Amino acid sequence: MDKPSPAKRMIPISLPLLGEEEQAAAARPIGSGWVTQGPEVAAFEKEFAEYAGAAHACAVSNCTTALHLALKAAGVGHGDEVITVSHSFIATANSIRYCGALPVFVDINPRTFNIDPERVEEAITERTKAVLAVHQIGMPCDLSALLPIARRHGLALIEDAACAIGSEILWEGQWEKVGKPHGDAACFSFHPRKVITTGDGGMITTRHAQWDQQFRLWRQHCMSVPDTARHHSDRVIVEHYTGLGYNYRLTDIQAAVGREQLKRLPSMIVRRRELAERYVKLLSDIEGLVLPHEPAWARSTWQSYCLGLPEQASQIPVMQALKDLGVATKTGIMCAHREPAYVSFPLCHPLPESERAQDRSLLIPLFTQMTEDDQDYVVDCLHKILNATA
Ligand SMILES: Cc1ncc(COP(=O)(O)O)c(C=O)c1O
Repeated sequence: MDKPSPAKRMIPISLPLLGEEEQAAAARPIGSGWVTQGPEVAAFEKEFAEYAGAAHACAVSNCTTALHLALKAAGVGHGDEVITVSHSFIATANSIRYCGALPVFVDINPRTFNIDPERVEEAITERTKAVLAVHQIGMPCDLSALLPIARRHGLALIEDAACAIGSEILWEGQWEKVGKPHGDAACFSFHPRKVITTGDGGMITTRHAQWDQQFRLWRQHCMSVPDTARHHSDRVIVEHYTGLGYNYRLTDIQAAVGREQLKRLPSMIVRRRELAERYVKLLSDIEGLVLPHEPAWARSTWQSYCLGLPEQASQIPVMQALKDLGVATKTGIMCAHREPAYVSFPLCHPLPESERAQDRSLLIPLFTQMTEDDQDYVVDCLHKILNATA
């Protein structure tokens, strides 16, 4: 009889950390009977705002809808231009198109994978309404350079912070959380690939009370009196629909899970940062390999850990060799302008660094539960494969 082959080791690129606490929390709204946009959502918003140091936080169905609402609040409409990066998940560019506006893509700084502030200023026209800057894979973008540009030209600055809950920037001598926000609004994702998850989900923080009010109307079809208020009133209240809104609600089941995830977040970030530091120590001897750069004014969540490949190594064969050894990877962040959905869009500025980052980099496993043994295995595999190509 053949001996059973040993189970193949498989290290995922990421893994959500969900436990009994989240299971118990999800049961709470189910038991209470209030399962959408009710007390758990209100509590999650309050706790999120406290964590980020934000004046206002409004929960929505995901980060894509958060971006749509933030851009609308900034007055982005038909025929306007919004300066952003192509080098991001496609949701960033799509949210601009939902407003009837044109994404104007500019190149990235190859060291941080974030929007290059110098390219932003060159791309401003009389139709520019906003800058949509991404804190890519958790690395804060250079807000201290971007904000004065936006203010000088009267543009809104919206932060795509999908991956950046818990990231920090050094701001006027103090470490502050991304999402305070430093721009006009910041949008977060709770998709399972993010640092914390509610299955799907999103949050918008803003410094403007009026924007926050507007988000609350839009996320529920512009209903004049929310159902929570009607429910708790002794008087009969009839609601009206004051404009064109959307169903962008978060459920109470998701929010209850999110509240537990927020409790875990500080220790998750400590662990993620330990693992990132360990990768630096263990990988710095591979010739030609480019390790990610964290500027002195930034602290990343390391939502993803992105390596630049040595010149002689080919991206897909390296990924296949790692997969054969049981290590999951992804190519560098996508570029929206290369996708069929964007081929008919005018590309006003060359994007060599964005394209190179997509083609020549690799996301490798990093997640809170990753053991040192897992990490040593990933590192050994990288040594074996990349040294063989040298
Ligand atoms: C940079 C960026 N923006 C926006 C999104 C969209 O987030 P969601 O899936 O919550 O809509 C993502 C998700 O991957 C992202 O990485």
